[in-house]
Amino acid sequence: MGSSFIYSSAHVGLKSVPVRVEADISSGLPRFTIVGLPDAAISESRERIRAAIKNSGLTFPRTRVTVNLAPANLKKQGPMYDLPIALSILIASGAISQTNITKTSVFLGELSLDGEIRPVQGALLAATMCKDRKLDRVVVAPDNAHEASIVKDVSTCTANTLQELVSKLRENSELDCHAHKPSKKPTPKNLIDFSDVRGQDHVKRALEIAAAGNHNMLMVGPPGSGKTMLARAIPSILPSLQFDESLETTKIYSISGLLDETYLLTERPFRHPHHTSSSTALIGGGTWPRPGEVSLAHNGILFMDEFAEFTRKTIENLRQPLEDKCVTIARASGTITFPSNFMLVAAMNPCSCGFLHDPKRPCECTPGQIQKYKRKLSGPILDRIDITINVPRVEFDKLTSNQVSESSKNIKKRITKARQIQLSRYKKLPIATNDQLTTRLLGKFCKLDDSSIVILKKAIDQYQLSARAYTRTLKVARTIADLCASENIEINHLAEALRYRCTRF
Ligand SMILES: Nc1ncnc2c1ncn2[C@@H]1O[C@H](COP(=O)(O)OP(=O)(O)O)[C@@H](O)[C@H]1O
Ligand SMILES: [Mg+2]
Ligand SMILES: [Zn+2]
Repeated sequence: MGSSFIYSSAHVGLKSVPVRVEADISSGLPRFTIVGLPDAAISESRERIRAAIKNSGLTFPRTRVTVNLAPANLKKQGPMYDLPIALSILIASGAISQTNITKTSVFLGELSLDGEIRPVQGALLAATMCKDRKLDRVVVAPDNAHEASIVKDVSTCTANTLQELVSKLRENSELDCHAHKPSKKPTPKNLIDFSDVRGQDHVKRALEIAAAGNHNMLMVGPPGSGKTMLARAIPSILPSLQFDESLETTKIYSISGLLDETYLLTERPFRHPHHTSSSTALIGGGTWPRPGEVSLAHNGILFMDEFAEFTRKTIENLRQPLEDKCVTIARASGTITFPSNFMLVAAMNPCSCGFLHDPKRPCECTPGQIQKYKRKLSGPILDRIDITINVPRVEFDKLTSNQVSESSKNIKKRITKARQIQLSRYKKLPIATNDQLTTRLLGKFCKLDDSSIVILKKAIDQYQLSARAYTRTLKVARTIADLCASENIEINHLAEALRYRCTRF
């Protein structure tokens, strides 16, 4: 008979909060109840906990066992409470002394029926919470130790089995600690180099600008013109991840259970959802909200190939993340938010048959079909695309020529420089790239001279540009100026930005 408590954590979006796992053992008929709004997974964990305790050679109480996960109003998910619940029962039953459990330790882990401690999602978030709340230890499965140990100042301890952990806690002996090791650099997966792509210099230039300022881009061209190939080459020119960016993106992968071997992402993500992906897969959501592709692409690229093949609803759902750089997912107990600061790279044919405006091959679509195809992309979506570029087919002579084009390495150098200019200009602000400039900051950093204002006004009238299109064009012009290390936006910078904004296809 007795009661006990131990700490664990619950994830809300990308944050973790402490959960107090309390157990009470009282006399009465054998009954094992868990309260505190647990979901179905926690009910299942009852069976695992009972079996794991028994199969570890320990005794599961033969009386009434009540477990409470507090705070009760917080929805808790998944099997990660198996371990803390089992421990709190063993403390309450006297198998482990409460004094041997420091109040500054957080436990999380799933248990197998034979008592093995298994990894859970979001161990990195729990470790971050420990640091923020001055808790000094997180106890996790060995397979979670890598990611948890990214967080300095918090010691990551592990045990393979419940039995091993219990005997160490009983004897009050040291647990195995996992020291942080720098991440293994993943070997790049057959990256396409920009020099592999023949011709298309104007597209490469546009991609360079997009990557330098994190602007959204749409490539339109007939099949086989190299759109997919160009998009796949983008990772080779992207600037390296800053540590903070890496940590935040890694958390998204941690909570999605996608961390695998690498435990701190060192490359910007490149996500490539298929056009049949559901809105939930793309945006996030579900009974227990999961980050979608837009968040998995955070601080990297979201490549939507065959853009017009996505459903209109799916495309429209991109509006919020494109504008706010985060997604808000509604659920019964309020909303949660995941970051989604990605660069959209979209590619599509100009019409269903693919050959509209092709100089050699006639388009077979009716005007009605062409209209319908284009209507897939609404005004508000096109408004959020900063750079639209036509990608014509490369002539045979160019494809087979031996002329060497510029390597990705060179292009990356220029992009990195332009990013550094942005970082130092915005060092006192919570932004890193030109696309994040707010309207208020535009006045300060994107001043135009009189002649530029004249052509801007002309373009606004002629193309009926919205206020959003106007501000976004200014940001692209800022990036073009940064690529040539120009302090001011010159008229030719603005003119180039306007060309990308006003491309017709
Ligand atoms: N500009 C190019 N330079 C070199 N190869 C090209 C080029 N354009 C297309 N190709 C070749 O054609 C293939 C198909 O191109 P792809 O990128 O799939 O075209 P799209 O996506 O525009 O239909 C590529 O895998 C590549 O082998
Ligand atoms: Mg393609
Ligand atoms: Zn056509």
